[in-house]
Amino acid sequence: MSGHKGFTLWMTGLSGSGKSTITDVLIDEFEERGIPLEVLDGDVVRENLSKGLGFSKEDRDINIRRIAFVADLLSRNGVPVITAAISPYKAIRDEARQMHETTDATFVEVFVATSLEDCEERDTKGLYAKARSGEIKEFTGISDPYEEPENPEIRVETHDKSPEESAAQVLEYLEAQELIPAKG
Ligand code: ADX
Repeated sequence: MSGHKGFTLWMTGLSGSGKSTITDVLIDEFEERGIPLEVLDGDVVRENLSKGLGFSKEDRDINIRRIAFVADLLSRNGVPVITAAISPYKAIRDEARQMHETTDATFVEVFVATSLEDCEERDTKGLYAKARSGEIKEFTGISDPYEEPENPEIRVETHDKSPEESAAQVLEYLEAQELIPAKG
């Protein structure tokens, strides 16, 4: 028995902040520890569950509600879930939290607090350059808002930190809350 509980680890942060990279490290770590895990990554969800949705506030809200619905279904049935979508609007993140509270599922908000400057400097997908030139409209952080979480359970400062160190901070929290067993 791996002794884990169900929970939703709700990652939020700018595009390129490191949500997916930290998630990748956590996937390996969970696998190594024999703990099941499902992942709802923004980019992947938009290819299936939310195919056809754009980036207006309305579409983002629909996207986030869908992700929250699936995450809640899984976590309340004992499955650990990581969601990794920008989820820029506080009200909808709070709605996701509320949804979990209603069903007695555990919701852990993780703010991947990478500065816009750092995200833009990395620009791994080349999208910030396109947003600056106006080729992409309504781009989060440039021409669309990102509302920072005020009281996330975990705030990961990624500046000068490796993805492994960021993931370790998350794992430490999960162990301390006894959502996953301590290693060793
Ligand atoms: S969310 O706002 O609805 O939570 P989501 O995480 O699903 O966003 O998708 C964000 C990803 O879509 C970004 O990482 C980026 O690759 C891509 N993307 C394309 N257009 C935009 C845009 N206008 N704003 C933000 N991300 C965009």
